[in-house]
Amino acid sequence: MTPSSTCHAVAVLLLLAAATLACHFSVFVVATDVECHCHGAKGCRGLGINYGTVADDLPSASRSVQLLRAAGASAVKIYDANADILRALAGTGVPVSIMVPNSAIPSLASSRAAAEAWVAANLAPHIPATRVAHLLVGNEVLSNRAIAASTWRGVVPAMANLRRALRARGLRGVKLGTTLAMDALSASYPPSAGAFRGDIAEDVVLPLLRFLNATRSYYFVDAYPYFAWAGNRDAISLDYALFQGAAGSRYVDPGNGLTYTNLLDQMLDAVVAAMGRLGYGNVRLAVSETGWPSGGDAGEAGANVRNAATYNRNLALRMSNSPGTPARPGAEVPVFLFSLYNEDRKPGPGSERHWGLYYPNGSMVYELDLTGRRSSYPPLPSADSAPAWCVLASGGGKAANETAVSAAVAYACQHGSRTCAAIQPGGACHEPDALDAHASYAFNAYWQQFRSAGGTCFFDGLAETTTEDPSHGLCKFARSLD
Ligand SMILES: *[C@@H]1O[C@H](CO)[C@@H](O)[C@H](O)[C@H]1NC(C)=O
Ligand SMILES: *[C@@H]1O[C@H](CO)[C@@H](O)[C@H](O)[C@H]1NC(C)=O
Ligand SMILES: *[C@@H]1O[C@H](CO)[C@@H](O)[C@H](O)[C@H]1NC(C)=O
Repeated sequence: MTPSSTCHAVAVLLLLAAATLACHFSVFVVATDVECHCHGAKGCRGLGINYGTVADDLPSASRSVQLLRAAGASAVKIYDANADILRALAGTGVPVSIMVPNSAIPSLASSRAAAEAWVAANLAPHIPATRVAHLLVGNEVLSNRAIAASTWRGVVPAMANLRRALRARGLRGVKLGTTLAMDALSASYPPSAGAFRGDIAEDVVLPLLRFLNATRSYYFVDAYPYFAWAGNRDAISLDYALFQGAAGSRYVDPGNGLTYTNLLDQMLDAVVAAMGRLGYGNVRLAVSETGWPSGGDAGEAGANVRNAATYNRNLALRMSNSPGTPARPGAEVPVFLFSLYNEDRKPGPGSERHWGLYYPNGSMVYELDLTGRRSSYPPLPSADSAPAWCVLASGGGKAANETAVSAAVAYACQHGSRTCAAIQPGGACHEPDALDAHASYAFNAYWQQFRSAGGTCFFDGLAETTTEDPSHGLCKFARSLD
């Protein structure tokens, strides 16, 4: 039994985690694709925002557009061509980037008529009142191996067919792209060693880069320093991930001598290096998703309001000055923050439901000015430091498979030092002598010993974290802050 596997627990290439896989279904908008005429002026480029809707009881589209404008969003990205949202954006001038669902790619790739019909049905009714900046064909398609055969090689042909359909209607301003997670790379550390995975480099990525270069579009990357940091907390300092590393935490890439002050730049430059390796080192970059969760399950490290506000505020401030990256100083990089709302119907660990700037009731989770012009905010709460324990999940007891629970207990007890001593006969936690009580003790004892090394409270879904102390009488459960 492997002790972990949350949506985001991705194999990490040393420092850089491949980010999101299928957990984020969001939207993004690209800021200012076209020339902005206030070069150098602050406020010219704020952050765009992803407007995902995997939630109950979200405000209406028109209220949502008010909220995202109130936060200073320069652009918005949406995860499908939602007609209500496109109507609500009409007349606002806010550029919108629209995703074409992965499932539509095969037919759009194989049929010009299908592409024309898609544009006619989904875009034509909204243009020009709504300002469409990008059409993003697929969401992290190359992270989903289940659709490799059906879809991967269709992405560029679908983009080409949609582009033709747009041009036939005179919609030349809309650029085509696709969003990719960091796991499109097989190497990302040091950044200069960045390279695309062998299974996609020649067949899929090369044609994509050729298309993006020829159409002066962007390579859209979903880049999450949060996941890279969470998976490598021993090696990466939190401050470096939050754009506030001290002078001593700079990183010099041994491959080219470039100096890094933050983790996001490292990730972006790994993509730049990978593109360069295929001969397209000049394709522009846009960050289609980034952000930091403001909450999570008990024990999900670093997912709190303090870190979320710090990351996002520093990001907004930094991007308003168009610093580019060490490999591309001064480059304009449109960025879409993830996300407008906490989305309560997202599966996975608790952090998945805590990426939003707003609660569904329209109040802000923390104050944030996406334009990056605001420099002072009220003090933040301290990082959440409630203790946590790992126990048998509710429903994981008698109802569940006792064989599986016993196997998980055996696994936990085999690891570490005296992990299960207290539940042996005569131990302080032997009573009650029942599988569910022993499982909770064993899961917790395992997790407290190994969590700093990446052990998770999961056990194939049999375990969950809690902030309620399961200790009883003389039987003491170790706690996460001990
Ligand atoms: C990228 O596009 C530019 C402008 O069209 C062109 O000059 C250049 O040759 C292209 N790069 C590659 C590698 O094809
Ligand atoms: C909105 O919801 C959040 C989270 O449930 C809550 O803390 C906050 O008080 C609510 N705000 C209002 C104005 O109801
Ligand atoms: C119970 O779990 C074991 C081990 O994980 C598995 O082989 C078995 O199929 C499960 N039985 C049921 C009824 O789910």
